[in-house]
This record gives sequence, structure tokens and C-alpha cells, in this order.
Amino acid sequence: MALIGNDIKQAANLLKQGLLVAIPTETVYGLAANALNQMAVARIFEVKKRPFFDPLIIHLHSIEQVNNYVRYFPENLQRLAKAFWPGPLTILLPKKNIIPDIVTAGLDQVAVRIPNHVLALSLLKELDFPLAAPSANPFGYISPTTAEHVNKQLGKDIDYILNGGACSVGIESTIVGLEEEKVCIYRLGGLTISEIEGVIAEKIILKTQDAENPNSPGRLKSHYAPKKPIYIGNLNQLASRIKNKKIGILAFGELPDEFDYHYLLNLSEKKDMKEAAANLFSCLRQLDESNVDIIICDWFPESGLGEAINDRLKRASSETT
Ligand code: TXA
Ligand code: MG
Repeated sequence: MALIGNDIKQAANLLKQGLLVAIPTETVYGLAANALNQMAVARIFEVKKRPFFDPLIIHLHSIEQVNNYVRYFPENLQRLAKAFWPGPLTILLPKKNIIPDIVTAGLDQVAVRIPNHVLALSLLKELDFPLAAPSANPFGYISPTTAEHVNKQLGKDIDYILNGGACSVGIESTIVGLEEEKVCIYRLGGLTISEIEGVIAEKIILKTQDAENPNSPGRLKSHYAPKKPIYIGNLNQLASRIKNKKIGILAFGELPDEFDYHYLLNLSEKKDMKEAAANLFSCLRQLDESNVDIIICDWFPESGLGEAINDRLKRASSETT
């Protein structure tokens, strides 16, 4: 198992040596390496069993650093950066040669983000290179939102886990870029569409649907998936079709009372979407590790963070639908 602690200097030293460190961010934990060191980055893919065609996000601590790594930074995307960084926003920008191709899977654009977590920012300030960091989970599985989640699955392969407590946002960053001058969203996440439209003042184009596109596995049909089958829909209807199985429920607010279930976790008793997002992956894991046979959950209202939560539920359940 990895060493877990909050020693920034130790984490920085390991990263400088080309080793891997798991880091907390406000969205999910990342598996970090020196983004400018190809060998270190290659190890991320190996540990995660992640296909090399899936590019990584680089993490910085200040907006002033961006131009060291990108050829240009379009004005409307800069406005988003100024409004939401540090925060759950990732921006696709044309990369400079200093970013190795392994980071971007050979694509011309690099994904850039400044995370809003005090430990991650202090660590980044200790380093003179960006950190490439995907979510710190085996490829395709539920993303980690605590140091313990990381340790359980990847602990034997990494040197240190910087423990920053439970992630406050709980789902990954929203990914944006430009196509023909228009701002597009490639992955729904912790920053909502309306927050982005509030700054850009025009309709944002959603490009999150091309589920088979291998260039962006966060958009793959099956992702974020528990090992147990998960079904999404009206809880009473789902339960009436399930016979002789232990049912685990991921609830949101009011509880169903019409049928027998084995285990229930409420994402937010007061139906607070932010709280539900922060609890989503951790509750999904808990059910996956419990002795239920099947997990059921209802769709969220399609507004605000509900859209990103539904996106994750859809991909998590794609093997069952
Ligand atoms: O919140 C987050 O974004 C977390 C934390 C650790 O920062 N990171 C994260 O990384 O979710 P990952 O690798 O699990 O998801 C990144 C997504 C992938 O779906 C990847 O395909 C897409 O970003 N991506 C990265 N670079 C890209 C690029 N150059 N072009 C298109 N998509 C890219
Ligand atoms: Mg991921």
C-alpha cells in the first residue's frame, strides 16, 4: 500500500524524481506525474491500464503559466479561465512542443486546468513543471473521491498519496474548447452549462454525445462503471421487474416504500444537487463493495449539476441498457 500523508515536500521530491503521486483536487483524486517527463507519464498509463489514445489533463497553479505550454489562448476561453479558475473547468488549447505527445495522445490540443484545492496548489507551486493527472482509478471504473479509494485500488503501484480529505465537488471537471470560434463542451462536469453561459453570453454547443469516439474516453459509452449491474429509472418500476435479487438503492431525497430493498444510501436527504454530486462516486463504490446483487437509481432533474450526474449514471449503466 502507498504511504498516505500531507507532506508537500515529500510529494514534490517524488514527482521531481519522475515518480507517481496521487493528489487531491476539488473534483476527484488525480494520479499525477511530471507532464514534461515522458517516462513518468507512461507509468500513469501503465498503472491505470489506460489506453494510450486517451489524453491527459495538465494541472497548473496560475493562469500566467498557461502561455508557457500553449501557442495561443483565445479571448473567450481566457474569460472562462478568469471566471472559474481555480475550479472544475478544463480548457483545450493548442499545445507547444514542450508538451510531449504522450500527454495529448498525439492530438494538437492539450487539456489545461487549475484545480481548486489548497494542497494541490501548494504542491504545484513547489514544482517547475505541470502535473499530468487523470483520475486515480483503474481505467473505466468509478473515480476516487478520497485517499482511501485511491489506496485500495492503486496503492500497491504508487509511492505516495497526498491526503486532502474528501473531494468537495465529487465529479470531474467540465471540459471546454473552441470550434469555429464557438465554445463547445466536451464533458459535462462540476461547472454547469448555465454558469458557463453566464460568462460567454451565447449558447454553448454540447459535444458530449458522440459516445463511440475513441479520442475522448470520458465520452465512451461505458465509463465510471461499478462491477455490479446498475439500472437507472423509476425505482418502483425497476424494482417490480427485479426478482430474487438483493437490491441496493442510490436514493436522492425521499425514499421509496413500495418494495423490499437490501441496502440504501441517500445521496442527499435534503435533495441538494451539490451534496449529491459530492457523494455520488463514494456511494456508488460503497454499494459496489457491499453484498447487493444489483444497484438501482433514478435519473436526476436535467438541470444544473443534474446534467453531469445523469451523464455519469448513463455511462455507468451502459452495460445494462
Ligand atoms: O476533474 C478532472 O478533470 C480530474 C482531475 C484529476 O483533474 N481529471 C480527470 O482526468 O477527470 P481523466 O483523464 O480521468 O479525464 C480527462 C478527460 C478524458 O476523457 C480525456 O479523453 C479528455 O479529458 N481529454 C484530455 N486531453 C484531451 C485533449 N487534448 N483533447 C480531447 N480530450 C481530452
Ligand atoms: Mg477518469
